[in-house]
Amino acid sequence: MQIIVSKNYIELCNKVANFIVDEIKELSAPLLCFAGGDTPTGVYKNLVKLDQSGRGVFNQANFVGLDEWVGLNDEDSGSCRFTLNRDLYRPLNIKESKIHFFEGKGNDYSKQCEQLNNFIENNGPINLALLGIGVNGHIGFNEPGSSLESVARLVSLDEITQNVGQKYFETEQKLTQGITLGLKQILETGVIILIASGLKKKPIIKELLTNKSFNPSVPVSSLWKHSNCHLFVDEEAFS
Ligand code: PGA
Repeated sequence: MQIIVSKNYIELCNKVANFIVDEIKELSAPLLCFAGGDTPTGVYKNLVKLDQSGRGVFNQANFVGLDEWVGLNDEDSGSCRFTLNRDLYRPLNIKESKIHFFEGKGNDYSKQCEQLNNFIENNGPINLALLGIGVNGHIGFNEPGSSLESVARLVSLDEITQNVGQKYFETEQKLTQGITLGLKQILETGVIILIASGLKKKPIIKELLTNKSFNPSVPVSSLWKHSNCHLFVDEEAFS
């Protein structure tokens, strides 16, 4: 795992966006996976600026969703899809046919997961993923205890995830379940970019960097098994 420490969030977002463009500019039709959440939003602003300045690196790309809250979809402010539509897909003019995402208001989650698993099986592996890190160490909704062999599935959310997740919404939500890509699909991804910013992420980053091996109760630590993983942190999050 390569560790890149930035002075602050602004510098981190700049570096990550440039890194992403450099990684994908030579790929003809990359399959990309971008996380929702608060931390990536500054990266997306920079990616949109880079794209507008004529790089056009996203023209041929396909996108897979990382996760979604069960019960919420693109119409719900604060959902993963809503955030990505607002910050990335719409500003980049990505066609709907290029986006392969979970529908959180669906009723057949196992079918949805099977379809996404088949899509990745046939079109993957994912070339590049940008992932945030939960304060409980989750990546996507791979909560503590997730298996390294897991693929897309419906999961019960950890209590910490349910509580912290309220920050994305104006009114209190029932956030007991989620749909997520699995650790297997994340570990098979070509390039992984992990990002963490701010003091609230300091304990989990310390945990990740202290025990440099896989601990099932800290899902992000599975990325010690990945050979092309880059952790971008700011000084506040870095111990
Ligand atoms: P955040 O979420 O970027 O909003 O902190 C990270 C996560 O929980 O995966």
